[in-house]
Amino acid sequence: QSDGSGEKKEQRLIVVSNRLPVTISKDEKGEYHFKMSSGGLVSALSGCKKTMSFTWIGWPGKDIPVADRDHVNKRLLAEYNCYPVYLSDELADRHYNGFSNSILWPLFHYHPGEMNFDAAHWLAYREANMRFAEVVSNFCQSGDMVWVQDYHLMLLPMLLRSMISGESAQGEMVRKELGRVKEGVDDEVVKDVLGMQPGVAGPQELEDEGVELLGDVDEDEVLHMKEAKPPVGGGSRRPHFPRGLSTFQKQEMVAKEKGKDGIRIGFFLHTPFPSSEIYRVLPVRREILLGVLQCDLIGFHTYDYARHFLSSCTRILGLQTQPNGIEFEGRYAQVGTYPIGIEPMQFVEGLQQEKVQNRLRTLETRFQGCKVIIGVDRLDYIKGIPQKLHALEVFLTQHPEWIGKVVLVQLAIPSRQDVEEYQNLRACVNELVGRINGRFGTVEFMPIHYLHKSVPFEELTAMYALADACLVTSTRDGMNLVAYEYISSQSKRHGSMVLSEFAGAAQSLNGSILINPWDVQSTADAIHQALEMGDEQRKSNWQKLFNYVSKYTAEAWGTTFVNELTRLSGLPPAGPAG
Ligand code: ADP
Ligand code: F6P
Repeated sequence: QSDGSGEKKEQRLIVVSNRLPVTISKDEKGEYHFKMSSGGLVSALSGCKKTMSFTWIGWPGKDIPVADRDHVNKRLLAEYNCYPVYLSDELADRHYNGFSNSILWPLFHYHPGEMNFDAAHWLAYREANMRFAEVVSNFCQSGDMVWVQDYHLMLLPMLLRSMISGESAQGEMVRKELGRVKEGVDDEVVKDVLGMQPGVAGPQELEDEGVELLGDVDEDEVLHMKEAKPPVGGGSRRPHFPRGLSTFQKQEMVAKEKGKDGIRIGFFLHTPFPSSEIYRVLPVRREILLGVLQCDLIGFHTYDYARHFLSSCTRILGLQTQPNGIEFEGRYAQVGTYPIGIEPMQFVEGLQQEKVQNRLRTLETRFQGCKVIIGVDRLDYIKGIPQKLHALEVFLTQHPEWIGKVVLVQLAIPSRQDVEEYQNLRACVNELVGRINGRFGTVEFMPIHYLHKSVPFEELTAMYALADACLVTSTRDGMNLVAYEYISSQSKRHGSMVLSEFAGAAQSLNGSILINPWDVQSTADAIHQALEMGDEQRKSNWQKLFNYVSKYTAEAWGTTFVNELTRLSGLPPAGPAG
């Protein structure tokens, strides 16, 4: 990247995710504590840090009083290279628990019945994305690469583009949402959702006022109107654009004046993207798609998710797509598949630590003569924990010779505990564990060891190494990194991997026993198969799996995505697509 003076400029990478790798809390004495966050996204991006250097922008999990921010910010930057986006606790609640986890999350995981759409949550989602856009746009400079992560921030690419090209975010939002009005949505609802000032403008007046500054309208007319009135929302004045420029070219012209041109934006979705038949249930389906279409590169874990996204763009926005992307407002958003991974060496080496070895020996003694099945999940309804427990119950009923000879150790990390569906799940799992243990247990033996807590890395590694099989029964799951972690910890035992066909990982982890978790009988049969499989077969399966996990690491995922993003110019590829 050159700044025109011939001097090479540093090309910076900025990663933006809702959750930072550290979560801040405050104790009664008023002291701040920084704790590593958990989840697939944090695990994978932390794995990239070895070879990629980036600043990480995100929400620190808590609002901090203004007086303390300086101190907290300094620590975040110095110790973790992180930069916070503060949201009031109420806004964060509506954005995270409300729109992200009660609307997008269930819908993206094929649970439309659990989706509670609420216009106030949508407003908060927009507002939070706007706050992120403000922080990121202040931070970034010409030539930077901004890599936006996950479903919490799907409007960010569009808002960021509009901010760095000088248009007021409010104006841009209205411009996009005018499409909805034209579809016949009630004006009052739109005004409400957009949070417009009373008397300022309805959608028609906004259009008349020239809000559609970068859109497909008569340029002279817009410029004439702009002369008369500043754009709504306080956007800056624009240069006189030569005729015939695309929105993309106009955005870049304005951005250049502000020292923010050539910024590439990438987006990666860590969840599934559902079939367009499910996606179209979302009342704000257009806005979410438009939000990410301002990217240069849009990545998914699997080919199917990418295909679903492209077909949603065709069916909902009426856009023509190419197999590898889509042209929108003169910019080409490339769409591709980038399966995530882990850093397997962390587990291979972790296993050598004395502390882990000691713990493993203790556990081996404790479970002598007994096979161990491990389950490690966030306590989330997509993980199919009730299905797993039902399958175990059927297995023990049909194979009583295994009672007392096999245990399921189920670790369930507490997650999203303010959302009602998660509270219901917790009660349901408690009830099932109690019932199955009550039915098959004795004073000496319990078939299920259930821990509702996060366990430290050493304990997790020892548990993975101890287990003869790992059981992943997600009813939908973007990828599922637990499967990768188990495989990486099994160089000695070569345990069996039983994996749901509805996890993204099933498309890559050849060597697993694939199951449909909704089919309780076949899952019970798979448990049996895993426990009885001969050494040779287990070893050959494990070798295939480990080869894959060692090659497609978190680092490979990160560098492949970022290298691709570096290569892109925003222009449509030459050939028929151009
Ligand atoms: P998700 O992203 O939906 O949480 P993944 O399987 O991709 O699912 O990632 C889960 C991550 O959280 C893994 O790195 C796993 O080790 C970690 N994890 C899950 N449960 C626990 C637990 N009880 N204690 C510690 N870490 C856990
Ligand atoms: O896999 C999707 C995901 O949202 C990840 O981004 C994240 O690591 C994980 O689920 C945990 O979610 P949360 O940040 O809500 O704890």
